[in-house]
Parts: sequence; structure tokens; C-alpha cells
Amino acid sequence: MNIFAKKSIKHLIETSEGGEYQLKRSLGALNLVSLGIGAIIGAGLFSLTGIAAAENAGPAVVLSFVVAAIGCTFAGMCYSELASMIPVAGSAYTYAYATMGEFIAWIIGWDLVLEYAVASAVVAVSWSRYVGSFLQDMGIVIPVRLAACPFDVITLPDGTQGHGLVNIPAMVIIVLISLLLMLGIKESASVNDVIVIVKLAVVLTFIVVGFHYIKAQNYVPFIPPNTGTFGEFGFSGIMRAAGIIFFAYIGFDTVSTAAQEAHHPQRDIPRGIIGSLVLCTVLYILFSFVLTGMLNYKLMKGDAAPVATAINLTPYPWLHILIKLGIIGGFTSVILVMLLGQSRIFYAMSRDGLLPKLFSDIHPKWRTPWRSNLLFMGFVSFFAGIFPISKLGHMTSIGTLLAFIIVCAGVMVLRYTQPKVIRAYRCPCFPLFPFLGILVCLAMMTSLDHDTWWRLLIWLVIGLIIYFTYSRFNSRLNKELKGG
Ligand code: ALA
Repeated sequence: MNIFAKKSIKHLIETSEGGEYQLKRSLGALNLVSLGIGAIIGAGLFSLTGIAAAENAGPAVVLSFVVAAIGCTFAGMCYSELASMIPVAGSAYTYAYATMGEFIAWIIGWDLVLEYAVASAVVAVSWSRYVGSFLQDMGIVIPVRLAACPFDVITLPDGTQGHGLVNIPAMVIIVLISLLLMLGIKESASVNDVIVIVKLAVVLTFIVVGFHYIKAQNYVPFIPPNTGTFGEFGFSGIMRAAGIIFFAYIGFDTVSTAAQEAHHPQRDIPRGIIGSLVLCTVLYILFSFVLTGMLNYKLMKGDAAPVATAINLTPYPWLHILIKLGIIGGFTSVILVMLLGQSRIFYAMSRDGLLPKLFSDIHPKWRTPWRSNLLFMGFVSFFAGIFPISKLGHMTSIGTLLAFIIVCAGVMVLRYTQPKVIRAYRCPCFPLFPFLGILVCLAMMTSLDHDTWWRLLIWLVIGLIIYFTYSRFNSRLNKELKGG
């Protein structure tokens, strides 16, 4: 049994066309850009920008957004090259299967659960906070213990400190979106398009209105001097903040998970990835510039909703409501696209025999891998209801960075091993860009704490146990190789 068996690219493309596993091709270039933006702009921008400015970078958080964008752009170009070569479902998992063999593919597929599923849980928890605050504005109060996890220390109605029970709103949003995804990608993509328009309108409104309330003295000093501790302001602070707000860029790669549902994947997937990444980078830089100009970075300490605080400085109460609503809508689309990506990864792994067949069963009417959606509805809502947001956030970052590194390495391997395969899009400046992609992502990974590394290791060990007890023996590729 060869655990490093590789799939042939030709075979990959052929088996994705027609037959029982065919997904409905319903997405154009614009849908794909929208899918990307839907996944990218969310809790990272609206919650972490202020925290990273207050604790690590000051107004120079703008530069942190540039640093993180550089890493993501290299990885995005590599994703695009692979997606244009291998336009089938499964994203980084499938690319690894064709480039580095089954075992590495399994590791990456398993690792991607951290990116897609765990990120959905993070955003659901953030969503629940903003919804709670919005409802409070409307005079509706959710019992605090039912909107916090058992690890959260909260102030109870009698003024004493206590722990939450379960985060019910976070669980509810996961269940609702999973049900929507089961009904079909076309319907889900249309809902996503509407949310993305609202979200972009809110971000642009904030930038345009907020611009008039910038106070120049808030930018002084632009790079606050380092306090003596690594990561607290100065250059190291900018780098640490880049690692934190990296979360805000996660999601562009979900575009590639929908390759099998795109009309013209070779042309449109690179457009979807690079288009959404460029647009978000520009918006993030402007947004963080305006935010830190309106509100002094020191005032953002411990503020989970700095955007709401900043917009309060304007004399427009309607804008306050609009911004909160837009943020809530924005979070909803992030969860939608993340859960969509997750179910497609499991669909691909199951189709290959590495996971039980039930995850690739397509519903006869909806044409979606609905059982995969159902599994993650349970898994993610459990995580969102029970676990604290900070730990989940770090797990998402480390898992995603590992995936990006494998994708960049995959591009390098394929250029040497399969030079003749047609690439509708080629990553420029080869091999420098993929190499820099690996380097920048590795640098961000090393900025994360030891506990996060341990959790990653434990997660991977669980994955290895499943691989060596189930997947290896059920691998379709290995069965085919043995038979033929
Ligand atoms: N990039 C996504 C967010 O910021 C995960 O919420």
C-alpha cells in the first residue's frame, strides 16, 4: 500500500466531469469574487483591528494589514495556479493529492477543518455578541448566560461574576446557515451576493463618513515606540499585529473550493481569488486608517466593537444602527462561505475513499453533499456553543497558515514534476514568489504561542490515527493501483 500515491491531474479532471459525483455548475466570475469577499470581510476586520492597534501596533496597524496582505497575495497566486490546473472540488487537499501524494493530502484535508469549520465557530461567537448588542439597542435582552460559553467570565444580572452556560445565538446561526447550504449552492450564492453588497456598502460608508472625523493628532506617533517587550509596538508590534489580523484575510481560498461549481474554472477561479484579495486589501487599509484616525488607539483597548465606538463620534444615530446591521450581515456571509468550503473538502475526501461514502452522497433533488453539511452543523455548533473565541481563533490561523505553506510548496513541486501541464494562470516570478509565500507564512506561524502549536499537533495526531486505521484501507486510488 503506497501512502504517497499521487493522483494524475488528467484523471482528476476526468472523474470530476459527469457521473454520480457531478455538482451543479452555476457560478460565474462575479459570483466567485462575491464568494471570496463574503468569506474574507468579517470578525477579523470588525473586531481584531482595534485590538491589534491598541495592544500591538497603534496606528501602524495599517502597515500590519500590508504585511499580512503580502503573505496572502503570494499564497493567493499559488492557489490560483493550482486551481487553474486542477479545477475540481477540494482545493488545497486535491492539489496536495496530485503533487505530494495521498498522505500529505490527508494531512492538509484534515488540517483544513481547522480553517473552515473552526473559523465558522469563531465568527459565530462574534456574531452572537454583535446581535446581542443590537437587540439590546432595540430593548430586547438575551439572558447573558445563554449567550456565553462555560469558559467565559461574565457579569450576571445581580451584579456578581459568573460563567456562561452555552452560546445559543452562535449555535442557532450555524444551524440556520447549514440548512440553507443543504438546499443548494445557487440559492446560497444568491443570498451571499445580497449580503456582500450590504457589507461593502457599510465598509465604504464608514470610510467616507469617518474620513471627515479624522483627527491628525491620533496618528502621532504613527509607530509607537516598543515597550521593551517583543510584540508590544515598534517593528515587532507591527509583525505581531500582522499575525493577529491575518485572520481578517482568511477566506479567499474558499473560492477555489467551488471550482467544480464554476462555469469556467480555469479563467474565473484566479479572477475570483485575486480580485477579492485585492479589493479587500484596499478596503482594509483605508478602513484601518480611518478607524485609527477617528479614535485614538489607546482608547480601543479591550473594546470588542471599536467600529461602533468610532461611529458614535458622528452625529448620525441611523448610521450607528446601519453599521451594526451591516456587521451582523457580514458575519453571516463569512459563516456561509466557510461552511460551504468545509462540506466540499469532506465531499472530496469521501469521494476518494478516505472518509466514509456518506459524506459524498449528493442529495437527489438539491444536488448538494447534504450529509457533510449535516455533520458540520453538529460539530461547528457544538464548538461555537461551548468554546471560547480566542483559542478557536489561534487554531484557525495556524491551520490556515500550514495549508498555505503546503499550497506554495505544491506549486514548486508541480513546476518541476509536471512542467507540460497547461496552466491557464501562472504564479509570476517563479520560484521566488512561492518561496516567499512559504517564508512569510512560516514567519507568521512562528509568531503564534506554544499552546496553539500543541493543539495543532494533537489535532494532526487524531487525523493520523483515522488515516492509518480507516482511510489507508479504503483509499480509492490505492484500490485502483492494486487492481490495475
Ligand atoms: N476573514 C474572516 C473574518 O475576518 C474569517 O471573519
